[in-house]
Amino acid sequence: MCGIVGYVGNKIAKDYLLDGLETLEYRGYDSAGIATLEGDTIRATKVVGRVEQLRKEEGQNPHVGSVGIGHTRWATHGGVVTKNAHPHHDMNEEFFVVHNGIIENYEEIKSFLLSKGYSFYSDTDTEVVPNLIAYHYSKTNNVTTAFQAALETLRGAYALTMITTHEPESLYVAKLSSPLAIGVADDELLVGSDALPIASRTQDVVFLEDGEMAVLNQEGYKILDIETKKSIERATEFIEIEEADGGLRGFDDFMSKEINEAPATVRSAMLGRLRVEEKLIKLGGLELVEEQLRYIDRIVVVACGTSYYAGLVGEYLLEEIAGIPVEVQQASEFRYRTEPLSRSTAVLVVSQSGETADTIAALKKLDGSGILTLGIVNAPGSTLARMTDAGVYCHAGPEKAVASTKAFVSQVTVFLLIALHLSKTYKDYEKIINELDTLPQLMEEVLKNSTDIKKLAEKYSDSKDFLYIGRRYSFPLALEGALKLKEISYIHAEGFAAGEMKHGPLALIDENFPTFAYALSSDINEKTISNMQEIKTRGGKIIAVVDDKNSNAAKLADDYILIPKVSEQLQPLIGALPAFLFAYYAAKKLGRDIDKPRNLAKSVTVE
Ligand code: M6R
Repeated sequence: MCGIVGYVGNKIAKDYLLDGLETLEYRGYDSAGIATLEGDTIRATKVVGRVEQLRKEEGQNPHVGSVGIGHTRWATHGGVVTKNAHPHHDMNEEFFVVHNGIIENYEEIKSFLLSKGYSFYSDTDTEVVPNLIAYHYSKTNNVTTAFQAALETLRGAYALTMITTHEPESLYVAKLSSPLAIGVADDELLVGSDALPIASRTQDVVFLEDGEMAVLNQEGYKILDIETKKSIERATEFIEIEEADGGLRGFDDFMSKEINEAPATVRSAMLGRLRVEEKLIKLGGLELVEEQLRYIDRIVVVACGTSYYAGLVGEYLLEEIAGIPVEVQQASEFRYRTEPLSRSTAVLVVSQSGETADTIAALKKLDGSGILTLGIVNAPGSTLARMTDAGVYCHAGPEKAVASTKAFVSQVTVFLLIALHLSKTYKDYEKIINELDTLPQLMEEVLKNSTDIKKLAEKYSDSKDFLYIGRRYSFPLALEGALKLKEISYIHAEGFAAGEMKHGPLALIDENFPTFAYALSSDINEKTISNMQEIKTRGGKIIAVVDDKNSNAAKLADDYILIPKVSEQLQPLIGALPAFLFAYYAAKKLGRDIDKPRNLAKSVTVE
C-alpha cells in the first residue's frame, strides 16, 4: 500500500518525484524518500513523515540528477523509522529499489543472501530485492539479466522500480499483482503506481501486466516477459484523468470539502443518465453488455470497506426495484471462497480507487470463467475500471480524504440508476425518478444545518463506545456510520441491524454507551422505535436520525437530527450525511488528523 514513482528524462528528476509522491500520498504516508543518480553514485533522502517533510529535507541538499525513484510508505514489514523507509539499497549501494507490495518469501531469500555474505540494515521485506539483484549481477555482469533473475525468485506481490550505478541512464520497473504505469511524454518517461501522478505531464500511458518488466531510458521503453524473456510490443493508450483538485476551497480539510460536495456528486452521477422527461435511465457504460444482462438472474457484489456498505444498499435496491437476487461479499472473503458461480451470475465490483488489492484479486479469480464482470468505479483508467467487462463510472471526482464520503453517495446513486435501468415493472419507478431529480437540493439542506450536528458530536465526543442501528435501507447506513466514526475519531463503534439488539449487543448498553439510531419513515419504523425503547429502558442515551420531528422516535431520543423526508429507497443518500458530519465533528473536537487517520491509507493496495 505504497506509492511509487520513477523518472528518466532530460529534466531534474526530483521535481516529478516529489510532486508525484504528493499525488500518491493517498496510498500511505508513514514515511517517504527519493533516490537519484548523481554522477557516479546514487544519493537517497528519506524521512519519517509526509512528503511535505521530505521536500523540506531535500531542500537542504537538493537532488539534481535526471534519473530517479521515489516512494511514500504504508508500513507492512518493519516499524515507521527512517531505516525502513524506501528507497532501499544493496550493501554496496549500487542498486536502489522502491517497492509496493509484499515479498512473501523474503526470509528464505535473506537467509540465502546472508549465507553468501550479504548484510542488511532494515527490517523490511524489500531490502532483499536490491541485494538479490546485486548477487545476480555479481554472477552475470548484466543488469537486465540480474534484474530478471531476481524477479524470478520473488513470490508475493510487487510493483518495483530500480536504478543502478551500473547503468546510470536506465530505470527498471516490474509488476506482479500491484499496478504500475509508465507515462510517455516528450523527452521523458514517468513511472507511477497509477496514472494520477503521470497525468500532470502526459496522458499517454502504458500499463505493465503481471509478470512483465521494462527498461526505460532516453531512447524509450522496452517491455519484457520476465519468464520467457521475450520482448512485448505495447503502444501507449490515451487516459482520461480527472484533474485532481488540489485546493481546499476554504474548507479546513478534504473530508469536510468532500462531504459538502455530496449533492454535486449525486448530480454528476446522474448527469446525462437520468432523463426525467423521458422517464428513462441511460447508462452508456452498460450498452455493450445489454444483451448479456438480459440473461443475468443473480448478481454478486464484491467490494471492501465503505464500498462494501454501498454494495449492501445496492442489494436492497436491486432486489426491490429490479427484482434481481443479489448477494454482497467482502472481496477479501470472495477471493478465497470456493463457490459455484453459474454463467447467469454477474459479478459487480465496487471501488472508489479502482486499485484495492482484494477487489482486484477477486476479479482475477474469475479470469477465463466467462462470468460477466461489471464495475462501479470512481477513478477512471484505474485497474478495476480496465479489468471489468463493462461498468458505470461514479464521476465523483478525486476523493482525497482517507474516509470515503462522497464516493459512498455516488456509488449508491449509481446503484439506484442501475436498479431503475434494469427494472421492468417497478411500481414506484416514476416516483423515484422524479424524487432523484430534486434530491441534491434536499441534501444541501442537511449540510446547511450542520451546526446542530456539530454541537451533538461535540457533546458525545468523550464517549468511548458507540452503537449504530438501523433497519432495511438504514442497516448499511448503521454499518457505514460506525466505520466512519471509528476510522477518524478512534472512538470504538459498532453497527448492527436494529432487530439484532436482543441477540447480543443489548448487553453492552448502559449510560456510557450511546446509540446512533436511524429511525426514518417506513412501514417498519415502529419496530426500530421499539428497539430504541429497549435501549432507553437500560439507561442508554440515543441520538436518532428522524425525518419527522413529531415522530415517536424524536420524542424518545435524547437528541435527534432532523433530515428531509424522502422515499425509503433514497434515504441512504440523504441519511449518510448526518453520520459523516457526526464522525467528522467528533474527530475534529478530539484533535484527530482528519484526512490522514493513523494506521490507514486511502487506497489499500496490499491484501
Ligand atoms: O477504493 P475502494 O473503494 O476500493 O476502497 C475500499 C475501502 O478501503 C475504503 O472504502 C475504506 O473502507 C475507507 N477508508 C472507508 O472510509
